[in-house]
Amino acid sequence: MTTTGRIYDDYSVLTPIHDGIDIMDRVMPLIGEELELYRERTPKSFALYERAQKHMIKGVPCTWQADWLLPYTFYADHAKGNRLWDVDGNEYIDFHFGDTPSIFGHSPDNAVTRGIADQILNRGVTSLAPTEDSIFISEMLAERVGLPYWYVTLSASDSNRMAINLARSVTGRSKLLMFNTAYHGTVDDTLKWMPRPGQVEYRWAHFRPGEDAAAVTKIAEFNDLEGVENALKDRDVAVLLTEPFLTDGGFTMPQEGWHKALRELCTRYGTLLLIDETHTQTSGPGGLTRLWGLDPDIWVSGKSIGAGLPVGVMGLKEELARKWQGLLDGFAPWGICGLTGQGTTNSANMLCLRALRLSLEHNYTDKTFAKMFASMDHLARGMRGVIEKHNAPFRIDTAGARLNVSFMPDVAYDALSAAKGVGFGGYREYWLYYCLNRGLLLIPIVNMILTGPDTTIDDCDKLVKAWDEVITNMYGR
Ligand SMILES: Cc1ncc(COP(=O)(O)O)c(C=O)c1O
Repeated sequence: MTTTGRIYDDYSVLTPIHDGIDIMDRVMPLIGEELELYRERTPKSFALYERAQKHMIKGVPCTWQADWLLPYTFYADHAKGNRLWDVDGNEYIDFHFGDTPSIFGHSPDNAVTRGIADQILNRGVTSLAPTEDSIFISEMLAERVGLPYWYVTLSASDSNRMAINLARSVTGRSKLLMFNTAYHGTVDDTLKWMPRPGQVEYRWAHFRPGEDAAAVTKIAEFNDLEGVENALKDRDVAVLLTEPFLTDGGFTMPQEGWHKALRELCTRYGTLLLIDETHTQTSGPGGLTRLWGLDPDIWVSGKSIGAGLPVGVMGLKEELARKWQGLLDGFAPWGICGLTGQGTTNSANMLCLRALRLSLEHNYTDKTFAKMFASMDHLARGMRGVIEKHNAPFRIDTAGARLNVSFMPDVAYDALSAAKGVGFGGYREYWLYYCLNRGLLLIPIVNMILTGPDTTIDDCDKLVKAWDEVITNMYGR
């Protein structure tokens, strides 16, 4: 059953209410105590934050770095393996990994880091000439993901932007279709949502004055096939973007037959299907596309794929690649103009290509993933055991090395249910601050937890213990 976006007029609908947990009288004071403790632990970060106010908004060079739900951010000093130290000397076990890019470890002492260092020291960083690494990368991605043609960009956002432009050029259509509350990076046309049925609006602070938010963006609810068909049947949609399941804002899972039906609808109405595996690629070397047998026209990833360096990739089906090449070749009489502006000039530089190659060779292996999955299994089992012990109405879902904490008991098949599971209004804040103050670094935005090859069973046990304490304290037992 899909809940169509009736919700967001009243944010209180997003806060779970559970018997025995008193948010106002019990959890809020606990949050106050944690924030006090945070201040006590981070005086040097606070001093840097104050100094930074003069020259950086919110004291950070990129606002993602202020997205910790804290009164002020902490400043990192250094990171190694799955540990990060802040400027006050506090040590954290990293279950966050910069929201995935460093999942294979910070500065690991291995062939990947040595190869990257060698590239910087001896072999050059940037050039507009491709290196042989790019061919290796394309061959390897083709084998793993199943799409034959590849393009390298600066990040997943960059890949999605490229993919949308390409889809528009090739199909001659202007619109895109995406799912409500999905996130696909800093791509203007996707920074929209549908707070009420049929009403597309700009999301967060991404306004384009004078432009109708629905001008080129259509939005449907995940698992709502009728909504998708309604959006596609005018045959003006160039591309449908989706993750295999939605990861940003809790996990929204696909119902039986959803992906097969999406594929069929896209084919029927001449819309290209883009699968964004930026997050879900931590499910294995070929992502969920391989594991679930998905059949996209375009495939996008980034984040973890570049061994911590900013890299994005885009895979294309042969027919689509040929059409695009035809378009580019059409500009040949005017010299190179068809090739200009397709991605950034600094994309696919020598350093990023080397990092990507080394990452695919050494990180993206079944052996490395097996390690990550083993610690994730242990963690998930432990956290579920705690839920059972307390008979708490919460749930834990996993996909590969990625875990979602939901403060609701059921699997979410729509964006509202998933968002409610995030635990806005007390639950997630307390969980996050409690962990942070005990040296456990979680992804704040959406309750995700990652395990890398360096994550030990002992690390997982520490997080399970914190989960137990948090639930105990929430109930006041
Ligand atoms: C599904 C998805 N796609 C794309 C992106 C954009 O990635 P980046 O910020 O590295 O460009 C994100 C970022 O969180 C994401 O979650």
